[in-house]
Amino acid sequence: AMVVQRAATLYAAKVRRDPVADLFTGSRLDPYDRYEQLRAAEAGDPLPKSSLGLRYTTNHAFTQQILTSRAFGAVPGHDRDGWFDGDIDLSLLQLNPPDHTRLRRIVTPAFGRGRMIRYENRIRETVDRLLDAVPADEPWDLMSRFSASLPIAVIVDLLGIEDYDEPTFLRYGAAIGGALDGVRSPRHAAEMIRTQQDLRRIFEELFARRAKDPREDVISGLVAARDEHRIAPEDMVGLCALLLLAGFETTVNLIGNAVLCLLRNPQQWQALVADPALAAGAVEETLRYLSPVQLTSRFALERTELGGVTFEPGEAVIPFLAAANRDPKVFERPLEFDITRPNAAEHLAFSGGAHYCLGAPLARLEGRIALQALVQRFPTLHIAGPTERRRGMTLYGAKHLVVSA
Ligand code: HEM
Repeated sequence: AMVVQRAATLYAAKVRRDPVADLFTGSRLDPYDRYEQLRAAEAGDPLPKSSLGLRYTTNHAFTQQILTSRAFGAVPGHDRDGWFDGDIDLSLLQLNPPDHTRLRRIVTPAFGRGRMIRYENRIRETVDRLLDAVPADEPWDLMSRFSASLPIAVIVDLLGIEDYDEPTFLRYGAAIGGALDGVRSPRHAAEMIRTQQDLRRIFEELFARRAKDPREDVISGLVAARDEHRIAPEDMVGLCALLLLAGFETTVNLIGNAVLCLLRNPQQWQALVADPALAAGAVEETLRYLSPVQLTSRFALERTELGGVTFEPGEAVIPFLAAANRDPKVFERPLEFDITRPNAAEHLAFSGGAHYCLGAPLARLEGRIALQALVQRFPTLHIAGPTERRRGMTLYGAKHLVVSA
């Protein structure tokens, strides 16, 4: 017992000295302060190794190269089974080309920019319905009343799921979203298994119904493509679960973070009130400045060199997307939030390369419509309570954001 305790103490001390380890173990410090420490450390030592043995980067150019390089994959090699905690099926996110390419091809048309433009009015109706219901003369929580509900309502509509129960779906999202930082407890593992079973039931029923009676929704399109491209039934459920959930825990934070940044910089909120066309720029700058997804991971698929470092096959690297988005080599005054920044869209908040976020056009559209509706309805909106960040390393956002008209 003494030895174990001693080892634990030594490990804790090591973790405390190591900013990357400290991030992984759930520090309460703002990760953005950590990223600047990591950037300073990386200045003379590109792609350094943290004491946990993991390489990382805060550098925009390296991040971009890792994401687009064929020498790195989302999983080590072709064996996708069992590498992820809890054996949860993350579909596209845990496939490398060519398996990835085959599966992604069948969903790409449904999320193209052209499709999204046609979808704009549906999103506006949903935004209006949600905002009609918020109190006019008392404080309300933007996260639970609006930012969390919008992405769910939109994707459910797009996929063609009828009669959904929002609290249940929120629970699914939290179970899978929480798993991005690792499965933390037996209770969480049980919740994930339940979630997977529920989603399997929901989607298999829907596949059967749409196969008989196709409609204009994404699932009908997928069912047709499944038969044409001979996609395995188990890949279909994972894919649909990803489509359903990938936007929940991310877009909620895009909207929350945007409102938070704008209200903390009142002159920029005012600029948006005066000219709602600035909303697209506000969305890009929020993605850059407070990225909803802070990091990802990649594995060398072969022996490869980057920045003077040799990666052996299977070696992992963490590109900190959020840190790359504040790289002073790419963004002037990177620590300032500026919705008129000309090159904000060079951020890597949606990743890059083969896994570039499929939902990016949808997330941008939801963000833009949400912000425009907010400034038009509530020009004097302000923060009306303490704000608290959600715990966790991968996703960045507010737990609550109490505002008042
Ligand atoms: C992938 C971010 C919204 C669907 C990704 C990745 C990131 C990301 C960083 C790639 C991870 C990696 O490279 O390892 C975001 C952010 C969003 C957002 C910040 C909101 C602001 C959405 C929405 C959907 C969606 C609304 C809805 C369909 C997907 C899918 C993938 C993905 C299917 C996997 C793509 C692939 O692996 O080929 N997203 N996402 N995302 N996202 Fe999003």
